Amino acid sequence: MKTSTLFEPLTLRSVNLPHRGWVSPMCQYSCDPVHAPGVPNDWHLVHLGSFATGGAALIIAESTAVNPEGRISPRDTGLWNDAQVAAWQRITHFVHAHSHDAKIGIQIGHAGRKGATYPPTTGPDGTVPTSEGGWQTLAPTDAAFGHYSAPLAMTVEQIHAVIEDFAEAAKRAVAAGFDLIELHGAHGYLVDSFRSPLVNQRTDEWGGTDDNRLKLPLAIIDAIRAKIPDTMPLIVRISATDWDDIEGDLQRSIHFARLAKERGVDLIDVSAGGNVPNLNISSGPGYQTSFAARIRAEADMPVGTVGAITDALQADHILRTGQADGVFIARAALADPRWWQRAAHQLGYELPWVPQYSWPQPQTTY
Ligand SMILES: Cc1cc2nc3c(=O)[nH]c(=O)nc-3n(C[C@H](O)[C@H](O)[C@H](O)COP(=O)(O)O)c2cc1C
Repeated sequence: MKTSTLFEPLTLRSVNLPHRGWVSPMCQYSCDPVHAPGVPNDWHLVHLGSFATGGAALIIAESTAVNPEGRISPRDTGLWNDAQVAAWQRITHFVHAHSHDAKIGIQIGHAGRKGATYPPTTGPDGTVPTSEGGWQTLAPTDAAFGHYSAPLAMTVEQIHAVIEDFAEAAKRAVAAGFDLIELHGAHGYLVDSFRSPLVNQRTDEWGGTDDNRLKLPLAIIDAIRAKIPDTMPLIVRISATDWDDIEGDLQRSIHFARLAKERGVDLIDVSAGGNVPNLNISSGPGYQTSFAARIRAEADMPVGTVGAITDALQADHILRTGQADGVFIARAALADPRWWQRAAHQLGYELPWVPQYSWPQPQTTY
């Protein structure tokens, strides 16, 4: 596959991304859990809007639950009702109207056995009791994640219901004006936990073998694809490894990526970890990029890379050397929501500013 540079465009189906610098999904835990559960608000508009005005080519809105039980915390965003669709419409409209051709996607997910927790913004670290607005979580088996409350092992009916919830959420994402959909298949949440041999110890057709463990993720991909236009890209964030059997996990991830590609997935967003608590990994600059490079080469499909990418030269090098097709930035974008403008300046590329900022020529201050 061809290599690229940070400010080259990329086309996925009918969506033209003006360059390869993207915003990674980031939960804000900022919904009102009592009066407007799952409904994004002014905070989300400003948070996501700032990246649009700062020059990002693609912004992925935070992990958004496909049903109320799929939330990580009571303050998560959702896509299970019309009020949520209307609130997201305001945000997608802003991004399209007030950016230089930025696109916005949404990460749809289900928290599985890592759901019903207190937001990390407030703590404490643990499960919210039902008396305080928590709920019973669901997972492949009834094994708990660390000190969180034990989930119930999903029945086959519950598995089919959640597949349908993903499909309905995808349909709502289209109505809300998103340009693409990212399936959250990473970080130990429901889809990832079904794929992990460490977590999915089911003995029926939804677990037990490598192929059975892919059944739920692939069924969700098929169900989403059936509900969205052919012109709309579908991407999947995966955890390439649980950081234990790294090579075995990578082989499994490459196999999954190949099957996902056959089913119409356009790009794999390669992250890692989340199924096992309290891991002590060495997370320096670009620590997950080699996983993306392997999947790109061996599944022969576009990938995004994420993880401690903070600098324009670093991002450009990853792309120029063919390790990925795009770079997702998370914490560096919180620190500087105009990261892409600064990167363009550093690399000697002229990225157009939004009109409100272009006439005073802010680039002269960089
Ligand atoms: C505040 C915050 C919220 C996050 N929420 C999500 C999320 O909703 N979905 C997801 O896949 N990853 C989430 N992540 C992980 C990031 O998308 C990213 O993969 C990780 O922070 C590594 O990238 P970075 O080194 O550029 O921050 C979150 C990270 C942060 C800092």
